[in-house]
Amino acid sequence: MRVAVLHGPNLRLLGHREPDVYGPTTLEEIEDRLREISRELAVEVESFQSNSEGALLDFIEAASPRVEGFLVNAGALTHTSVALRDCLVGVGRPFVEVHLSNTSARERFRHHSYLASVAGGVVYGFGPDSYLLGLRGLVALIEKNGRTS
Ligand code: DQA
Repeated sequence: MRVAVLHGPNLRLLGHREPDVYGPTTLEEIEDRLREISRELAVEVESFQSNSEGALLDFIEAASPRVEGFLVNAGALTHTSVALRDCLVGVGRPFVEVHLSNTSARERFRHHSYLASVAGGVVYGFGPDSYLLGLRGLVALIEKNGRTS
């Protein structure tokens, strides 16, 4: 089984960016942890980060034939992007939405997600562990629905 992890705008700044909100862990360290857990789950993981909405859509479109699902931290695009939602629905692959922070406990504009109602599940508020829990959830979801490869 192969899945893709998507990191949206500003997530490359993790470790330096608002450490009181997002903690000290860098994106590279999150990637390392995902690689470790992917071995345990026997799943291949590829990752993509972009600050550009269009690049994320192009990646999803290109990757969807070779992956069985997506783990998505869309950053601020979560709260703004109908295009990202349409793309994830359009490619017909299950996805799990994750966030490091508890977006429901933050500013009002972060309370709404365009992705949540079409996601297989949502994990937020656990810092880097949101990704690890999200990956476990995604793999379980794919197993439950029946793998396509
Ligand atoms: C975030 C939450 C978003 O509201 C914010 O714009 C981010 C990070 C998180 O992981 O907590 O960029 O997705």
